[in-house]
Amino acid sequence: MKVGAPENKLGRVIVQVLLLHLLLQSVHSQKSQNKLNITKPGQNIPAALRVQLSRVSHDKVVVDNGIIQVTFSSPQGLITGIKYKGIDNVLDDEIDDRGYWDVAWYEPEKKLEIDKLEGTKFEIITQNEEQVEISFTRTWTLSKRGSLVPLNVDKRYIIRSGVSGIYMYGILERLEGWPDVDMDQIRIVFKLNPKKFDFMAISDDRQRSMPSMADRDNAKQLAYKEAVLFTNPENPMFKGEVDDKYMYSMEDKDNNVHGWISSNPPVGFWMITPSDEFRLGGPVKQDLTSHAGPITLSMFTSTHYAGKEMRMDYRNGEPWKKVFGPVFAYLNSVSPKDSTLRLWRDAKRKMASEVKSWPYDFVNSEDYPLSHQRGTIQGQFFVKDSYMSRLNIYGKFAFVGLAPFGEAGSWQTESKGYQFWTRADRKGRFIIENVREGNYSLYAWGFGFIGDYKYEQNITITPGSIMNVGPIVYEPPRKGPTLWEIGVPDRTAGEFYIPDPYPTLMNKLYVNPLQDRFRQYGLWDRYADLYPENDLVYTIGVSDYRRDWFFAHVTRNVGNNTYQPTTWQIIFNLKNVNQIGVYTLRIALASAADSELQIRINDPKSDHIFTTGLIGKDNAIARHGIHGLYRLYSIDVAGNLLSVGDNTIYLTQTRSIGPFQGVMYDYIRLESPPRT
Ligand SMILES: *[C@@H]1O[C@H](CO)[C@@H](O)[C@H](O)[C@H]1NC(C)=O
Ligand SMILES: *[C@@H]1O[C@H](CO)[C@@H](O)[C@H](O)[C@H]1NC(C)=O
Ligand SMILES: *[C@@H]1O[C@H](CO)[C@@H](O)[C@H](O)[C@H]1NC(C)=O
Ligand SMILES: *[C@@H]1O[C@H](CO)[C@@H](O)[C@H](O)[C@H]1NC(C)=O
Repeated sequence: MKVGAPENKLGRVIVQVLLLHLLLQSVHSQKSQNKLNITKPGQNIPAALRVQLSRVSHDKVVVDNGIIQVTFSSPQGLITGIKYKGIDNVLDDEIDDRGYWDVAWYEPEKKLEIDKLEGTKFEIITQNEEQVEISFTRTWTLSKRGSLVPLNVDKRYIIRSGVSGIYMYGILERLEGWPDVDMDQIRIVFKLNPKKFDFMAISDDRQRSMPSMADRDNAKQLAYKEAVLFTNPENPMFKGEVDDKYMYSMEDKDNNVHGWISSNPPVGFWMITPSDEFRLGGPVKQDLTSHAGPITLSMFTSTHYAGKEMRMDYRNGEPWKKVFGPVFAYLNSVSPKDSTLRLWRDAKRKMASEVKSWPYDFVNSEDYPLSHQRGTIQGQFFVKDSYMSRLNIYGKFAFVGLAPFGEAGSWQTESKGYQFWTRADRKGRFIIENVREGNYSLYAWGFGFIGDYKYEQNITITPGSIMNVGPIVYEPPRKGPTLWEIGVPDRTAGEFYIPDPYPTLMNKLYVNPLQDRFRQYGLWDRYADLYPENDLVYTIGVSDYRRDWFFAHVTRNVGNNTYQPTTWQIIFNLKNVNQIGVYTLRIALASAADSELQIRINDPKSDHIFTTGLIGKDNAIARHGIHGLYRLYSIDVAGNLLSVGDNTIYLTQTRSIGPFQGVMYDYIRLESPPRT
């Protein structure tokens, strides 16, 4: 099926649906509080730039603003064609699914299903010469049980005059009493025209020419299907390189614009995400961006770098409603004489201006609050650690955020509500604007101290409110003075030793030693090269964590598909010991995948004094990360286990079926008993 064939070839029949539209407008003005004024006298838009909506056939809707022309299947609401600057279709015409939403879902214990959220009803929400907003909806009923995700769906698209892109948002809802469901992922996918787009840019430093899907199909699969080695690619430039979409993951706080460039004609296609409010898991949740295909994603929710703890699960008829987006698919172009890298710079500029205009004032849904319907919270965050400083210190550059009610730190696996985060300034002052009406907890955490802060009171945000919580003070866990520490509390393993990749398994993008070295393939196996027989031993006062602490506590590959558990040692010298006191070991983990960490003191054969039990599914080792979810353990160490002179802490990761089991440490500290 070639739904996206160029319109002019078909002979374009423009059927203005004005009457229908006026009818719908009156229906909408009754139910929608954010009604836009349809007629805007005094704004004379040149005819060529008016937004026009046409139905070229019973199953196709076209919106054209004189810059881009977008074709939607109707009433399904898939984007099948984007015509722009001489490219008949920016999307991949050769395949059916090229611009769509999907949800990965299942009823508990049943098989995973993918639902493309195809609509059954088309509606015009707003239509005037300045903008068109259209909607494709689907209503769930019990008869659909098992075949469609139990959600009411409203997919919205907005095209505005003078703007070369498509705003996209979705309102997903389940009603009370609907069946139990788990949802692992919600996203928008664009599969771009592979004859045009061959250069990908996801940040200033992460940009490269990309292999094609055909190259990937002919490549050798590595340890899992996403990672391949190009042995004989069409373009010899990729020979010997590894490609894996997870090499292009990013933390949500940095994931505001990414996409692709076509050099002929010089055109860019970008996914701009102006706000994180509808994403899940807080500012450092990681997710996919763009990758070989050419594919560009807007990931709204996923279990990536988190695991099932992050999944959205609904039980006992729990109702839910959420607006995802708007996100903005932006297209740009330069003259053939210009460098195509200007497209990236322009995309960043556009992103910054979209961020500034958030919340958008042109979105026409009562479920999307406008600026005046939102509230503000501000305050000043301090950290109090009396063993570090007598005075409270500023919570410098701390992350401060509102998220649904929960325990301190619960935001990192929270997946159903909205979250609003900011970073404090150097004096810990923070202001969070444009918060949706609702009840929240106020959370904070940051670099340089351990644990999670939660403000004791519930926060209620009402429209137009400005709340000032004043100074708030966090006391990180602490019982006594620091005897020694390894690493820095930053929730990543990035400061530890990251090995060189195998020269035969590289992505050249990450060869520059200062830049994201951890994103290379196969680093987990370098452990066995460095420690073929004896495990890592770290001596306090002698070793340097940047050099001597491997970034991931992995299993040892002993060949023949066999892996061994590994035990790391920390050796430290004590001049004196408080035999009746209790020492405290703080272990902050940056990641855990199907592992169990056991701790023994001074005798590797003794009973462990602590175990994490089986933890983690964040898979950060396999996904080239330096963190997944954060976990902090505080472990009592009885003074009588320690001796004057050398002592050893044994850290054993006991699970060893495969290469991807293990933990990453963020930070380790031993505290003396409290001063009396
Ligand atoms: C729309 O705007 C015009 C001009 O500002 C105003 O006269 C008119 O009353 C408005 N209509 C509605 C329905 O708000
Ligand atoms: C917030 O909590 C209060 C008190 O529990 C409740 O009355 C109110 O409905 C809640 N507001 C929202 C928007 O959920
Ligand atoms: C905050 O709200 C939750 C949920 O309504 C409630 O259980 C809790 O007691 C409230 N906490 C405070 C301090 O009011
Ligand atoms: C690997 O496994 C095979 C078959 O089980 C065995 O014959 C061989 O000796 C093993 N090699 C090593 C190095 O253990």
